[in-house]
Amino acid sequence: MAVDVLLGLQWGDEGKGKIVDVLSPEYDLIARFQGGPNAGHTLEFNQQKFVLNTIPSGIFNPKTMNLIGNGVVIDPIILKRELDGLKARGFDPVADQKLFIARRAHIILPTHQLLDAASESKMGVGKIGSTLKGIGPTYMDKTGRNGLRVGDTQLPDFKARYQKLVDKHKSILAHYGEIPDFSEKEAAFFEAVEMLKAIPQVDGEHFVNQYLRAGKKVLAEGAQGTMLDVDFGSYPFVTSSNTTTAGACTGLGIAPKQIGKVIGIFKAYCTRVGGGPFPTELENETGEKLRAIGHEFGATTGRPRRCGWIDLPALKYAIMLNGVTEMVMTKADVLSGFDTIYACTHYLYNGEKIDYMPYDISAISPEPIYEAISGWNEDLTGIRKTDEIPAKLTAYIQYLEKHLGVPVKYLSVGPDREQTLNLMQ
Ligand code: GDP
Ligand code: IMO
Ligand code: MG
Repeated sequence: MAVDVLLGLQWGDEGKGKIVDVLSPEYDLIARFQGGPNAGHTLEFNQQKFVLNTIPSGIFNPKTMNLIGNGVVIDPIILKRELDGLKARGFDPVADQKLFIARRAHIILPTHQLLDAASESKMGVGKIGSTLKGIGPTYMDKTGRNGLRVGDTQLPDFKARYQKLVDKHKSILAHYGEIPDFSEKEAAFFEAVEMLKAIPQVDGEHFVNQYLRAGKKVLAEGAQGTMLDVDFGSYPFVTSSNTTTAGACTGLGIAPKQIGKVIGIFKAYCTRVGGGPFPTELENETGEKLRAIGHEFGATTGRPRRCGWIDLPALKYAIMLNGVTEMVMTKADVLSGFDTIYACTHYLYNGEKIDYMPYDISAISPEPIYEAISGWNEDLTGIRKTDEIPAKLTAYIQYLEKHLGVPVKYLSVGPDREQTLNLMQ
């Protein structure tokens, strides 16, 4: 059996949570492989809306197990808040024995968040626009070999280890200025660590491989998007993990040969939240219209998302890096009522027409070259059958498939679980 991967092809918020939830009945295990509570994965069903930050989006399916993989960074306070929130609404994945956590996953400390904030405020105009959840500093401690891991919470000297790392953080924070009081956060942290200890901790790599050996189906759930990948995204305006398929191997402990389908998800247009280059951004009324109709405000931070037309060079790059085998297009309904929509097919870069992503996109924002496409007027949100899809939307999908060379298997026409069409059925 292979591990299928679902990941974002743009700058995040493509609708991963919704689609993982839709696909979860087909899988025995959903495993988050990277990122942390910088993610906000939204899913809706039965008039209920949930936003998950750390917990995999398979928890609402009664039969599916869920793993927070070793590549994820965990804020115990946020995870406790997520679990308490779910419990209050009648879902308890821990009591139901359907949530597991990898011992090797790293822990976000309150001081990691202080470091994130201090680093961002020091950068001023060039700031990343981080979610300020402590993601960067936690991954820095991981690769710097100073980090604390979930399994460490079970050790008798956990507090001493914590203090050693906090002392290091304090010396760094002192360089930035006065260290804010974090005693309340620290108390909440230790309370949440007790909760963390109650979630079954596993060696995630063996856990996942046992599923595979038993012939069970696993879906790896990505966070963020390819253009936020630390190696291949719009560096330095990226997150601190590998958001690409390769990240599923290191973030779960699976061999490359075990990767099966790679499901790439993208919006019918494009958004980005935070700083950094965004070639197709529309800083005008059209961009505002997309934001208003698409409710483009961050699921985690509430920040307005920057909006623009679809970017084919960026998508082609993402498809290549991830080995995408099939795609999901979301938010097609948001484009209803635009007489003309535009697709960026090339960039003008140093006076040259190119169709790839230049390495220094952050320094020289390339100018997009567009092709105009005739839009559709029909409301799509009630569509449940493929023969109800307007011809112009079908033409748009076929246009994208031709340019990108990968089929669109699912079409999403609204935030609800039900508003999803399988185009290959
Ligand atoms: P994720 O981070 O990739 O899981 O995406 P987010 O949850 O951050 O953002 C996607 C937003 O779009 C959420 O509010 C979803 O409820 C919503 N959404 C997902 N698919 C669709 C769709 O097809 N149409 C519309 N209108 N909204 C959608
Ligand atoms: P999901 O999983 C969209 C962005 C931040 C910032 C940059 C670095 O919901 O798609 P970080 O907090 O990681 O240091 O921020 O990355 N970012 C996201 N943008 N969706 C996300 O996750 C994001 N996670 C981080 O806005 O620009
Ligand atoms: Mg999101």
